[in-house]
Amino acid sequence: MGEVLLVGSGNRKKAAELSALLQGLPWEVRNLHDYPALAEPEETGATFEENALLKARYYSDAFNVACLADDSGLAVDALDGAPGVYSARYAGPEASDSENNEKLLAALEDFLWHERTARFICHAAFCRPGGAVHLEYGTVEGHISMEPFGPGGFGYDPLFVPLGNERTFGEMDALEKQGLSHRGEAMRKIRVYLESLA
Ligand code: IMP
Repeated sequence: MGEVLLVGSGNRKKAAELSALLQGLPWEVRNLHDYPALAEPEETGATFEENALLKARYYSDAFNVACLADDSGLAVDALDGAPGVYSARYAGPEASDSENNEKLLAALEDFLWHERTARFICHAAFCRPGGAVHLEYGTVEGHISMEPFGPGGFGYDPLFVPLGNERTFGEMDALEKQGLSHRGEAMRKIRVYLESLA
């Protein structure tokens, strides 16, 4: 086993996706459950990039380990890029995924399919304690469906139909989503970097 790499996300389903995407690398992947409880950092950045970096730096410094974090979200063209960096708290500070999805469907009520274009964005940040920082980016284009479909994934997955597909991420299994998703793309790039370090 190589150096420890902490997946710095308190979102259980997102952390599981990130861990799966780090499989097979010569790093010993751990998650936040392996460390003492710590309040999540406030996401004060104005961009995905700033927030990804802020999270990776926070956990890396707190536990003195290398850390990988991502900041991600959904940008809907008809809503001028909203919910964007506020994706997790679109319907309020403690909003559930289904509350966020309901709010999004209501906001798009008057929009036809071809007007419902959107993209998921993922910025992944890697930090070593007090040292190296590396950032990567991934995105996937698609449409927001008229109603939720599928039990899989998390967040807006039941509403997002990636371009060239007829099913939402919520209807896909984890591997199929990984192959298409913003997080999959960012993490494939991060893997190349992590392999070069090991
Ligand atoms: P973060 O944890 O601050 O990066 O918040 C990301 C939020 O964006 C999540 O809570 C979801 O609402 C949304 N999001 C990001 N990635 C995905 C995804 O892969 N599927 C569905 N929703 C996502």
